[in-house]
Amino acid sequence: MNSINVENTKNVDECYQQAEQRAAHYFQTLYDQVIKRTYIPTLTNDFQMWKQNHVRHPLLSLWGARKNKPNTKDYSNYIRWMNVTGKLDSYLHRSISYIYMRDLGKSLQSPDTQNRIRHVVDSLKDHLTGSNQGNKSELISMAGLYRWAQKEGIESTFIWLMDKLKTVSSHIPEGMDAEHAQRKLIKIIAGVLMHVIEEMDNSVSPIERREKLAEAIRLGYSYGLTYPFIDDLLDANVLSTEEKQQYTDLIRTTLITGFVPKLGSWSGDNLKLIQFIHAELREAYKYIKAYQHSETLNTFFEQSYVFFQSQEVDRKKDLSNPSYTNEDLYIPVILKSSSSRLIVRSVISASEDGGFDNRAFFYGIYNQLADDFADMFDDMKEGAVTPYTYYLKYHGLRPDLINPFELYWAVISHLIHNVYDSDLLTCEVILDRAINGLKRFKARIGMEKYSEVMKLFASADSEFNHVIQTMVRRADDVDFFDKLLRDHIITNIRNQRKEQDEFIDTVKTVRNQINNILTISKKENSSQINESIVDAANYSLAGDGKRLRPIMTWVMGVNEYGLNQTAIVPLLRSLEYMHTASLIFDDLPSQDNASLRRGRATLHQQYNIATAELTGLFLTQKAIEEQASLDQFDSKTVLKLIQYSTQVTEVMCKGQAMDLCSKGKPLTLDQLNTMCFYKTGIAFEASLIMPAILAQVNDLEMKALKQFAYHAGIAFQIKDDLLDVEGDITLLGKSVGIDANNNSSTFVSLLGQEGARKEMWEHYCLAIEALHEVPRKTAFLKHLLDYIVNRDH
Ligand code: IPE
Ligand code: IPE
Ligand code: MG
Ligand code: MG
Ligand code: MG
Repeated sequence: MNSINVENTKNVDECYQQAEQRAAHYFQTLYDQVIKRTYIPTLTNDFQMWKQNHVRHPLLSLWGARKNKPNTKDYSNYIRWMNVTGKLDSYLHRSISYIYMRDLGKSLQSPDTQNRIRHVVDSLKDHLTGSNQGNKSELISMAGLYRWAQKEGIESTFIWLMDKLKTVSSHIPEGMDAEHAQRKLIKIIAGVLMHVIEEMDNSVSPIERREKLAEAIRLGYSYGLTYPFIDDLLDANVLSTEEKQQYTDLIRTTLITGFVPKLGSWSGDNLKLIQFIHAELREAYKYIKAYQHSETLNTFFEQSYVFFQSQEVDRKKDLSNPSYTNEDLYIPVILKSSSSRLIVRSVISASEDGGFDNRAFFYGIYNQLADDFADMFDDMKEGAVTPYTYYLKYHGLRPDLINPFELYWAVISHLIHNVYDSDLLTCEVILDRAINGLKRFKARIGMEKYSEVMKLFASADSEFNHVIQTMVRRADDVDFFDKLLRDHIITNIRNQRKEQDEFIDTVKTVRNQINNILTISKKENSSQINESIVDAANYSLAGDGKRLRPIMTWVMGVNEYGLNQTAIVPLLRSLEYMHTASLIFDDLPSQDNASLRRGRATLHQQYNIATAELTGLFLTQKAIEEQASLDQFDSKTVLKLIQYSTQVTEVMCKGQAMDLCSKGKPLTLDQLNTMCFYKTGIAFEASLIMPAILAQVNDLEMKALKQFAYHAGIAFQIKDDLLDVEGDITLLGKSVGIDANNNSSTFVSLLGQEGARKEMWEHYCLAIEALHEVPRKTAFLKHLLDYIVNRDH
């Protein structure tokens, strides 16, 4: 064992040195270009050609389409506008070409790549302009992604990933950004997926394709973990200095030996966190190792080591140190940016491709310099050393420092002419991207600050600088779809978070309100017997219920239908009384025979069976009494509501009867769906339909609400079935394993846990789709649905 380690240590050090030499050589080439300014005439020339497609005659641009250009933030309008003005095609073509170059390391000169780009552009265009795009406010949604996974037959892997992402983000400690970690992971996984899809041709069978995609997701996750758990963790101020050292050693050993060593003893405050990360990384590296072919396994670990080591070198840099050389600054940047690209390809065991290696190696620093440029002020605040922050701080004292912005243009020139053989399309796309980057930067930081930045960073060659600034001011058609997507996703995540906070807040407030109105008061002069039934009812009502049904009614009734809060109090009571009654019956020995409910003994255990039966009956009638006291509403409407309510009870009874009859008998999926709609879904429906009856909404809306409730209710029951198998009794407040004990027919008994989860997500998607037809604000119902499938009690 030991000898392998020693040998490998030598290997990785050698690899690092080799990579360093190559990077040093590359840097020297770029440095020469900057000093001799050879890139300037070349790029000036390129821009002369380029601008013909991007800069219109000043007179023409006085009127013309530009004025009507919608804000890119309004993405669907923007896409529509581009489609109408005939710009969409070239927009998508430039965007996809860029991704093929940057993310897939392709050369745009290859006819095969051109074909594939064309193909992707066409299907993306279809997707964006297709008829079903109309009412979707989100480009990317959970339901949309799940539908894609279904189409590819990889639902289980998708569900697995969602669970993983949830676990990871719940373990990200304070002082690190959980959402950023998630986003990064998703980006890496998407990158690996793209590579895998790109490597497959028509000869791949559907089964093979499914396997490869599923593997890509797991590999992407396994490798992607290194970002939040290695890179970001070591960057953050979470671990103590000693812990960081211990952790760095652990990772180094992992990359040298190929597996995560035992954790051993850990001295520091973050033991729990490290234990989680350690277990997760261990599993991840095991997976990578098992999957990889031996030829690429070495490349993977070597490149990972180069990546890790160059990050380490960079991390140790200190902005207060005035004496870093240009080489100190740029070589680690070249190393980390190129190795991260090379890893993505080696992780999927793709065959060696010299062209790819070369392009990826030269390309990395281009993106890194573009990113560092955009982030220079944030980096400065954090005291991070990047070529830009260092130049900002020391340019006055250190005339030997080269200007990173000049080096950036030298990289661009080198890429276009030396790496991509002066290919016209490549030149077009890269210059589009460069000008777009500056335009975005300018728009973000404002005119004044932009001028300041340019004063410092603009090329010493005023003519070249003039060319660039003119392009930034006047060039058009340089937008990119991935940028739009990014902006859209960020806004979306922000909105979602805000909505979710509102959802949690609303649920909390309304739940409190409902808890305050549930207690049934005893009638004066009532006999002892009657009182004990009221006590028993109050015992059940006082348990720790979620109150989801009346909460739904309150939110839709008050917020969407404008019903009076006080006027609907009897309705809220009636819904919770009916529901609680159904639980009392359900727990009886003659039904599920449960002993724990809402965190306390079930009613028949606390009192006795007869009392429980009578209390259930009493509560269902009490519900009607409440409904009959809805005196702020038109009496015909109230009668309609009561009639509907009694039908609901009938359906629930049928559902429970079907449930009890099905013990030990396998049902069909259809029968199971019916049973679950009857016993559970109908109460969800009632919670939405009853306030809708009071508000006298039209039939079409009723239909959409029923459709939503049907799927949301079944999803709720499936989750309930899953929790019965995998839930935690202390969180649930009811016993687990009841269904198996009773030999009940549930989604889990019919389909297994995995199958049940798939079915739950299917109903989730159908419910979301039904929601599109509800002509109200639906954020609450959407978040309720998210809660239903993600809850732990
Ligand atoms: C439990 O309903 C009965 C089912 C329909 C599965 P809830 O899970 O809403 O129970 P409480 O009201 O929160 O106790
Ligand atoms: C109960 O379904 C449905 C009712 C509303 C009665 P379950 O029997 O699965 O509910 P729990 O798990 O006991 O809450
Ligand atoms: Mg039951
Ligand atoms: Mg039960
Ligand atoms: Mg259950």
